[in-house]
Order: sequence, then structure tokens, then C-alpha cells
Amino acid sequence: MNILGIDVGGSGIKGAPVDLEVGDFAVPRLRIPTPKKSSPKNVAAVISEICDNFADQIGTDTRIGLTIPAPVVHGKVPFIANLHESWAGLEAAKFFEDQLARPVTLVNDADGAGLAEVYYGAAKGNEGVVIMTTLGTGIGTAIIYRGVLIPNAELGHVELAGHDAETRASSAVKDREGLSYKVWATERLQPYYSHLEMLFSPDLFVVGGGVSRDSDKFLPLLDIKTPIVPAKMRNRAGIVGAALAARDANDHQRVSQ
Ligand code: BGC
Repeated sequence: MNILGIDVGGSGIKGAPVDLEVGDFAVPRLRIPTPKKSSPKNVAAVISEICDNFADQIGTDTRIGLTIPAPVVHGKVPFIANLHESWAGLEAAKFFEDQLARPVTLVNDADGAGLAEVYYGAAKGNEGVVIMTTLGTGIGTAIIYRGVLIPNAELGHVELAGHDAETRASSAVKDREGLSYKVWATERLQPYYSHLEMLFSPDLFVVGGGVSRDSDKFLPLLDIKTPIVPAKMRNRAGIVGAALAARDANDHQRVSQ
């Protein structure tokens, strides 16, 4: 069965029915720009449009998966860095279920991407501690141990030289400050990944986000002991991860009934 996965980002909201047998879109995805005022209500209107667009494939009352760029603690968003401030404190899962009149599973965007990489991508089959990092507007992170996600790791906000790490090392910062790959890698990413390595002793780092397309320009410059590889799912990771989370929620519900 296909499950609709939707990835809410700072610039675009993207969705597609996902064939979880293969970990790919069943039909091409739809992308709609994120509303300028990215409030929950405005985002819900776009999500509703995406649901309507794929109604033939997924039906009108099936569970969908949504990734958002914020932690999601039992359905609630405790704080928000890169969407409208009115998300902070929202009972978001309930809000979207009411707005969309269907069951919704909400998951952090990096957690979704990490799940997708573990099931189908660069971390497939890894039996140890995998840390997924997404370098974009912010830095998203996911910790997965033996295939099980430990949700809501907000390691993009660890302190680095007295700053919130994502304000020093995200790819948006690289662009904003006009840093070369070399300077970004050696001065910003190097201390970041060394710090995570010291804290978690992971078996593998996976690096996602749009900039991972150019990973050969910066990953080889990093001097760490942990293997570090680019993500494989590319721009499918969020949508596929959202659908995976929704499937897990369906399975869980079946078991607990
Ligand atoms: C948020 C995370 C999110 C990351 C990437 C950070 O600012 O706090 O929850 O995963 O950005 O979108």
C-alpha cells in the first residue's frame, strides 16, 4: 500500500505517495512553495491541497506522515527555529488531524531523513550508532541505534565556540557568509563533527541536505575517525521518512488494539 509522505521545509512543502516496498515515490512528487507567513494554519492549507492532489492514490481518510523542521514531543512542538514562531507550544499532531480530518503522524525532518537512510540508503544494514546530519537552513540530526530511532536529538543546537552550532556551520551560513568549501569544512564543520564524535562515538555519520550533492568538495577535508558518507536518498529522504513514520504508527496502533 502507498502512504502519503509530506516534507514541510522553510522554502517548499513537498509530498508524494510512497511505495514502501521499494522506498521511492509511487508517482512524481508535488512541490508547493511554503507560504511567506509559515504559520500552522497556512501550512495546513498547502498540505490539504497536496492531500487532495493525491486522493486517487491514497484515499480520503488514510493516515499520512508529515515531517517538520522542529522537534515533535508526543505530538507537541516545544520550540521552532526556522518556521513562523506561532508553532512553538502547538499540539501540532492534533491540530493537523483536525485541519485535515484524517490521522496524521508528525515527525522531525531529520528523524524522517535518518529513518529513510537506515531503511533504504547510506546507513542500510548498519548495526551500530548512526548519526544523520542534514545541512540546510539549519542543522538537523537523528540518532539511530541498530535500526531504532532515538527521536528529537537536537544536535544542531549544541554549543560551538560559544555559538549555537547551526548558526556557524549550516549550509545557509556558508552561503550567507560566502565561505568556500575549504573554509566551511575546516573551520566550521571540522569542530562540529569532532565534537559530535567525542560526545557519541558513532559508527557512522550520514550527511544530507541539498549541499550533500557536492559532498566530494568538503567531506574528504574532514579529519575525524568516524566514517562519514553522503546521504543516498537525496531529496526523497524527508517524504519517504514521513511515510515510514506513518506506517510505523499504523503498525503500532494495530498491536496495541
Ligand atoms: C531544528 C530541528 C530541525 C533542523 C533542520 C533546526 O533548527 O531545531 O528540529 O531538524 O533545524 O530543519
